[in-house]
Amino acid sequence: MSTPILVTGGTGNIGRHTVPLLRAEGREVRILSRHPRTDEPGVQYLQGDTVKGTGLERALEGVDTVLHLAGGAKGDDVAARNLVAAARSARVKHLVLISVVGADRMPIGYFRMKAAAEKSFENSGVPFTVLRVAQLHDFALPMVKVLSKMRLAPRGLRFESVGVQEVAERLAELTLGDPAGRVADLAGPQVREVAEMVRAYDRGRGRVHRLLPIRLPGAIGRAYRAGENLAADTATRGTTTWEEFLAHRDPQPASVA
Ligand SMILES: NC(=O)c1ccc[n+]([C@@H]2O[C@H](COP(=O)([O-])OP(=O)(O)OC[C@H]3O[C@@H](n4cnc5c(N)ncnc54)[C@H](OP(=O)(O)O)[C@@H]3O)[C@@H](O)[C@H]2O)c1
Repeated sequence: MSTPILVTGGTGNIGRHTVPLLRAEGREVRILSRHPRTDEPGVQYLQGDTVKGTGLERALEGVDTVLHLAGGAKGDDVAARNLVAAARSARVKHLVLISVVGADRMPIGYFRMKAAAEKSFENSGVPFTVLRVAQLHDFALPMVKVLSKMRLAPRGLRFESVGVQEVAERLAELTLGDPAGRVADLAGPQVREVAEMVRAYDRGRGRVHRLLPIRLPGAIGRAYRAGENLAADTATRGTTTWEEFLAHRDPQPASVA
């Protein structure tokens, strides 16, 4: 009989799309969450906190494979260290980590935390798989909405956002497969200027705005303009475009004809 797969972050956006795919392959899933939750058929919830390092020992009992998706604005580096230490003690056979494209290049705390988390996995002594993923369309949307409202277009800022279902499918495949080390990045089908993404959003709302070009300052601005947040040519690419995502996820309100 196969052992349960532990999914940290199984309650989050990516986790909610990935867990059903693991279940569809007949695997039992255990989800670590900071909050008490009621079990569902084939899904057991255990309470714990990856940053505080609580609940990990119990969550890892009898587990061979861990998919680590839990993440937040702070502490992803600490969380990875805690998880790796507990996984080593529990003799886990496969650790899978989601990271972000540009983790080791972007001069932003979130990216640095992800790079440190990758290092923890790589140096863990536990067989591992690391997948760097571009921003999700869902993640880009709130930023695009703000830029649309303010009518701003940061010059040279590009994204290659990707659909959550495509990310979930790749993660499930990697989790059910053998440890593969760092695999090809996963990004969306197109590299898009953010200004273009804002215009596409506006078009979908039946609006045409003139956008005021602005320059992102400092090292962060330079890194974005240099495309340090973008995947290499060797990346795997999803197929869902920004426009397709908008049509599905954020359709034009009925009042806008
Ligand atoms: N969204 C993107 O564009 C993107 C791109 C590349 C990589 N990623 C990475 O992918 C992962 C998942 O992203 P997402 O968009 O699905 O995130 P999300 O919707 O914000 O969900 C975050 C998840 O992490 C869990 N979590 C947060 N802090 C925790 C802690 N201290 N202990 C245990 N669980 C904790 C939450 O569980 P509870 O609230 O139930 O405790 C929740 O399930 C993150 O690591 C993120 O950095 C995201």
